[in-house]
Amino acid sequence: MKRSPSKKRPHPRDIAVLDTIDAMRRYVKGMRGKRRIIGFVPTMGALHEGHASLVRAARKECDIVIVSIFVNPAQFAPNEDISKYPRTFEHDRALLETIGAHAVFYPSARMMYPSGFATAVSVDSLSSMLCGMSRPTHFRGVATVVAKLFIIVAPDKAYFGEKDFQQAAIISRMTEDLNIPVTVRACPIVREPDGLAMSSRNVYLSPTERKDAVLLYRSLITARKTYREGVRDPARLKDSMKTVLAEGKSLKLDYIEFVDPVTLAPHTRADNRTRMIMAVYCGKTRLIDNMRLA
Ligand code: PAJ
Repeated sequence: MKRSPSKKRPHPRDIAVLDTIDAMRRYVKGMRGKRRIIGFVPTMGALHEGHASLVRAARKECDIVIVSIFVNPAQFAPNEDISKYPRTFEHDRALLETIGAHAVFYPSARMMYPSGFATAVSVDSLSSMLCGMSRPTHFRGVATVVAKLFIIVAPDKAYFGEKDFQQAAIISRMTEDLNIPVTVRACPIVREPDGLAMSSRNVYLSPTERKDAVLLYRSLITARKTYREGVRDPARLKDSMKTVLAEGKSLKLDYIEFVDPVTLAPHTRADNRTRMIMAVYCGKTRLIDNMRLA
């Protein structure tokens, strides 16, 4: 059956591309004047179905959906090659038009970080654990740019993926701590048919690495099964995951933790709220994944 065009957006060709902060502010001001509810999806581009799911979630709850595309230098460490990050603006714009986003904010790095820029937002403790151990400056860069984007776009609601579970927790904490009037939504992970969590980084994987990459998902499923069989000790659950990961020759474990979904503090005894969260090197590419234990 053919899908009828969305009622909200019958002409998917007229997405607005705003490449200056002033233009973005004027657009938002206009929409606010019309009392539109504004939804916001921050991204770094190279969009895939995971990003699209956030836009769809925003469309359900908001009148206007704004997507930012900005490869944020502040969240890349010197050893992480930002110039290699995939940039696919024309593809991204076409995808956003098809799924009915209304505007794209596409600023330059110079505009976001002019010379003399000196401010950072740091969400302590949550930023130094888990992925923060191997990427010590990463979340400060994320929190800083998201705070800037929240101030520029001033949305009512903002949509993040659970794919980056720690990031979503940090943004929620920051929004609450700084009294930013934005409702933060965390949306479920979108996966490839074999279970690999979709990521802009998956394009870096060789065919062999791509095969190994699915073991992250399988290890999470295995831990779930072990939990259902009655095991509550995180160490034993981790062991069941490590056995699965050992099948992948290109994999090297960074960490697996069993944590509280809000504070990210480790659980000493697993329960139904526990979040399993992991990072694994697959060749040179660092992959992350997570899942509720029950
Ligand atoms: P990026 O990696 O482009 O991701 C943008 C958003 O898409 C994030 O909220 C991320 O969690 C979500 N996402 C990515 N893959 C997903 C998947 N498979 N399923 C569901 N959601 C998924 O995360 C960033 O950019 C940046 O750090 C950013 C927040 C834009 C700040 O620069």
